[in-house]
Amino acid sequence: MKDIFLKENIIEILDYINEGIQIIDNRGRIIYYNKFAQRLDEIDREKAIGRHILEIYPSLSYDTSTLLNVIRTGEPILNIEQTFITYKGNKITTVNSSIPIKSKGKVLGALEISKDITDVKELSERIIDLQKELYQDDSNNSRKNKDKSNSNYTFVDIIGQHENILQIKSLAVKAAQTTSPILVYGETGTGKELLVQSIHSASPRKNKPFISQNCAALPSNLLEGILFGTVKGGFTGAENRPGLFELANGGTLFLDEINSMPMELQAKLLRVLQDGIIRRVGATSTISVDVRIIAATNVEPRKLVEEKRLRKDLYYRINVIALGLPKLKERRSDIPILLDHFIEKYNKKFNKTVRDVSSNVMDTFINYSWPGNIRELQHVVEGIMTIYDIEVIDIQHLPQQFNDIIYGLDNRDKVKPLNETIKEMERKIIKDALEKTNWNITHASEFLEVPRQTLQYKIKKYSLNKI
Ligand SMILES: Nc1ncnc2c1ncn2[C@@H]1O[C@H](COP(=O)(O)OP(=O)(O)OP(=O)(O)O)[C@@H](O)[C@H]1O
Ligand SMILES: [Mg+2]
Repeated sequence: MKDIFLKENIIEILDYINEGIQIIDNRGRIIYYNKFAQRLDEIDREKAIGRHILEIYPSLSYDTSTLLNVIRTGEPILNIEQTFITYKGNKITTVNSSIPIKSKGKVLGALEISKDITDVKELSERIIDLQKELYQDDSNNSRKNKDKSNSNYTFVDIIGQHENILQIKSLAVKAAQTTSPILVYGETGTGKELLVQSIHSASPRKNKPFISQNCAALPSNLLEGILFGTVKGGFTGAENRPGLFELANGGTLFLDEINSMPMELQAKLLRVLQDGIIRRVGATSTISVDVRIIAATNVEPRKLVEEKRLRKDLYYRINVIALGLPKLKERRSDIPILLDHFIEKYNKKFNKTVRDVSSNVMDTFINYSWPGNIRELQHVVEGIMTIYDIEVIDIQHLPQQFNDIIYGLDNRDKVKPLNETIKEMERKIIKDALEKTNWNITHASEFLEVPRQTLQYKIKKYSLNKI
């Protein structure tokens, strides 16, 4: 067993890892390079091993080489983004973590792990450049009065007469006139984006930029540069670039899925909210900005705070105006008008003549749980109207997710044998458990408190299949 951990074996394994690994001794000489590091740096390892790191990377210095810093201080440097030019002239961006190798308190050397993020970095820079083109071109006066806000929706687009939604709308209209931060909470498809854009469109900032950034879409170390901008040089090899805060100046910055923002960045966001000042990554000077922040989350904000995914102080700061969008199943009375709205929309778009839905369909919709909320309703209507040329949408046109309810509706007046009803119930309970656990049979069996084999047998018996 111990033989597996022989040094040679471990070293060979390191060659199969898709991250660069480099080791130097305490005099700064390179003693190990794995295959990926060789590919990343475009240097033959035979040429590099045994030589001083600054000899191989002339663009680095004692101050800027993270490995040499780690040797000097004995402290790890984690998740630093670095851009450098390889020997062959290619620009590479990596995220590096450098860790000291110590024995009895003495630093023997240091190890660096590098992840290649060149492609992601290029894409994110492209986003910023495009945003810059869109918002910073003030030289041409003819564009002055043009709406640069980039938000399409207004409050009129928010359909709904349920008390909850009317209340939120009236609060949001008032909020639009202020500059306080807003926190919008609602499950997927409940209309967060729609609401946020409507607030911007109704605000005095309506002709200024509306910029939306999903905090879950980018690796955390890139998000900081995207939001705050970067200055040239330093450790990181970054360029001079404004961030979204600067680009959104005078307008609104929508931070979607704020719960995915790393904690350190949340602390920086809090500082901007408090004093309206930002500092580009790597800069010493600060810039003041006037940006209205709207953040959104699809997890309950208090739960996020409890689970330490959202800083408490930030939560109190952005929760000044809190707008919680109801689930569709909590506003079922709005289903008929939402249906009319989407039918009309797709009649125009697809040139169709749907008039109505049958009463069975309406019953089914009212009884369904709508996990995807309004987006799901919209897609169901769109799906049916692309396929069928009909005047009335009837039960047979509905997609599969409604089968359980339809089956229930058909049978509600009949009295059935107990045995059959029990089987139906059992099938439904098992199906729900499988769907909840994303068809993980082990988890589903734990959930249902039955042995795994029993569950497998029943899945077969009821011919349950993942769709
Ligand atoms: N009240 C409403 N009236 C009309 N259309 C709506 C309403 N609410 C949502 N929609 C429509 O439903 C779709 C989803 O809305 P939106 O993108 O705003 O949801 P979201 O809450 O941001 O979802 P996610 O969390 O998945 O990003 C959009 O096409 C939107 O136009
Ligand atoms: Mg959204």
